[in-house]
Amino acid sequence: MPIMLRVEELEPGMVLACSVMNEFSVLLAHGRKLNEFDIRALGRKLPEIMVQVVDPVLDEMVDFEDDSHDREVSLEVRRNISTVTKKVSQQVRMGVALDADNVAGMQKVIEEMMAYLQDNPVTMAVIEQSGGWSDYLQEHSANVFYLSLVIGNTLRNYVKQERERLSAARKLSNALNLTPLATAAMFHDIGMVPLEHLYDKEGPLSEEERALVRAHPTQGAAMLPEEIDPMVRLVIRQHHENMDQTGYPDQLPGDKINIFARIIRVADAYAAAISSKVYQNAKSPIPVLYEMLFGKYRSFYDPVVLKVFASITQPLPIGAKLKLDTGKWAVVVKHNRENPFKPMVMVAFDEWGDPLGRDELEEPFPLGERADIKVKSFGDEDISFLNTLEEQPGDIELAEVEQGLDTLLEFCYP
Ligand SMILES: [Fe+2]
Ligand SMILES: [Fe+2]
Repeated sequence: MPIMLRVEELEPGMVLACSVMNEFSVLLAHGRKLNEFDIRALGRKLPEIMVQVVDPVLDEMVDFEDDSHDREVSLEVRRNISTVTKKVSQQVRMGVALDADNVAGMQKVIEEMMAYLQDNPVTMAVIEQSGGWSDYLQEHSANVFYLSLVIGNTLRNYVKQERERLSAARKLSNALNLTPLATAAMFHDIGMVPLEHLYDKEGPLSEEERALVRAHPTQGAAMLPEEIDPMVRLVIRQHHENMDQTGYPDQLPGDKINIFARIIRVADAYAAAISSKVYQNAKSPIPVLYEMLFGKYRSFYDPVVLKVFASITQPLPIGAKLKLDTGKWAVVVKHNRENPFKPMVMVAFDEWGDPLGRDELEEPFPLGERADIKVKSFGDEDISFLNTLEEQPGDIELAEVEQGLDTLLEFCYP
């Protein structure tokens, strides 16, 4: 079972529970016993990442959820996609228009990654916060691609139903094709390439700058070559439309927004918020997901997509060490798909950070459910608000999403 540690907490002899990769390659493989050199190199190259290491004692005691497969698949897909997006942005920066050959090359990688995800299905959409990526848009596009495809794969029935509804009640004869979603997700912000300097701007954007940013969906759609599937162009144009008709550029009502654009909207908001660019510092997934589900902007998002997203992207990783108000530490042992803020945790370390003895370990319990055990922080972040959360985030039960799509449609488009 893995414990999640920061680089400065690593010690020689610890064994990696999950490979460490950067945008180019695997730096340290799953199963490796760390030596001092490895730890120093990690501190230099990826100082901000958290690493999963094996804990043999806890491993024997508890049945931890193993998310290492999901993490590795995620890295593999994002690494491959980022290579393509990097080439495309370089070309756009040099002022060279994209042509049919570019499209064919990109389409090949997209199809390969879709097939790879089909052969290696994941249960959780894990993306870490930034670490070792050189280019914001490259990383962002890869993250949005990955999250959108996992959401799309999880929500196939809803997507199919929505696609049929928006194609003038025509039944789609073929199997659902997610290629337009994947392609649009990868290029959704291509219109931002000429505006990249705005990501680094200190302070608020000027009126003109805001107008330029608001034009990026339209500009991006127009930058793609003629050969591109028209639906990809449409989805890119719509990726900042909101369900409550407050989006741009067309202020479409929710029921007129393409389902692929609604999926990208959710993936995009989350990926941008947890990344260290985009007008502000990175936030951690916990307040980001909380804000998306409960905050004043939650009406931006398709509630079905949002609910499913919240069940597959858990903000606290398996193995995360959470500081309790008693001074002891709990460890996340299992995700909770019904409520991402209440994972199963187990008190496993004393006030000094030393492991509790076997006879002191108690059964795991859902975070926030025991009056005598309150959580305080994760890393440097105060997460005590999780002790007083409402029972269920959002208004929809997950079971409803999976069964009764008709009623949900009424809920979504009153
Ligand atoms: Fe965008
Ligand atoms: Fe974006």
